[in-house]
Amino acid sequence: EKVYKIAVIPGDGTGPEVIREGVKVLDAAAERFGFKLSYNYFDWGGERYLKTGETIPEGGIDELRKHNAIYLGAIGHPDVTPGILEKEILLRIRFELDQYINLRPVKLYPGVWTPIKDKGPEDIDFVVVRENTEGFYAGGGGFLRKGTPHEIAVQESINTRYGIERCIRYAFEYCRKRNKKKTLTMVGKTNVLTYAWNLWERTFHEVAKDYPDIKTDYAHVDATCMWFVKNPEWFDVIVTDNMFGDIITDLGAMIQGGMGIAAGGNINPEGVSMFEPIGGSAPKYTGKNVINPLAAICAGMMMLEHLGEEEAARAIENAVIKVCRDHLKSLSAGKMGYSTTEVGDLVANYTKEGVEL
Ligand code: IPM
Ligand code: MN
Repeated sequence: EKVYKIAVIPGDGTGPEVIREGVKVLDAAAERFGFKLSYNYFDWGGERYLKTGETIPEGGIDELRKHNAIYLGAIGHPDVTPGILEKEILLRIRFELDQYINLRPVKLYPGVWTPIKDKGPEDIDFVVVRENTEGFYAGGGGFLRKGTPHEIAVQESINTRYGIERCIRYAFEYCRKRNKKKTLTMVGKTNVLTYAWNLWERTFHEVAKDYPDIKTDYAHVDATCMWFVKNPEWFDVIVTDNMFGDIITDLGAMIQGGMGIAAGGNINPEGVSMFEPIGGSAPKYTGKNVINPLAAICAGMMMLEHLGEEEAARAIENAVIKVCRDHLKSLSAGKMGYSTTEVGDLVANYTKEGVEL
């Protein structure tokens, strides 16, 4: 029997609540499809930091390396200065495990409400491949004349040929495998950020020569925000840098039904990858059993897909579709018509039984 070792970081706020439901669903899938998941829990996050002053303990990253994948709830605590937990836990894991892709599907399931008028599941179905180890996230910076009226803040963005190329190659490969419109759109800002995006552009066109079966396209990031709302059906696979990817995937999450369902994977194709709901820790809903666990459940589904358990992943997806279509009144916290645990139970049961859609 196959056993996958999963590192679980439930994290802060509602993280532990949604991860509990995710694990429930993963176990249901494992039982049905004949594999096992063995979990190691890590209590990293705001609570631990406030108590001990420690974010990731000594040797923590090496512990993660011993697993087949990482399952993360949410990092972020209202009593901790913004930036500390994000940089020392989330970004540190992404960087040190070299998870150079942040894969964020934007897919509207049937029955899910979208704020985009006259668009349905056939229109909203694309994937954003976000570079995950460079850009502004990796750059340094500094202040000049600090504290004076003429203070200057410099914020650097790092863009390497190596980092850009491996990201773009991944996106082409992904687009080929996805086999939908076979169109890869690079999203950037070539008209203003003329160093970084010039390198992206040259790399994109060079790599494209290896993929004659894939159509290429380019859109500025601001225009992309407009197209997401106006013509989301134009997109198949998007490749972009870390910062733009961060921004446009929040917009993407909203058009697919909100943070209640948006999931992503931090991928190192040769190493250990991490899967997470893309919304935050939603502290105000903590402990109320009202948060939507579907984003965490979908992150679990992506994790199984990544581990090669394709059938199990499809069973979870079908269960999620069924629950969205036939049960939930809304995907928003407190408005679902069901509690967090009830949604988890429904998806787990449908995953175990199998559903006809
Ligand atoms: C995300 C988040 C993180 C990011 C934050 C929490 C550092 O917004 O995963 O999109 O900016 O990458
Ligand atoms: Mn973000």
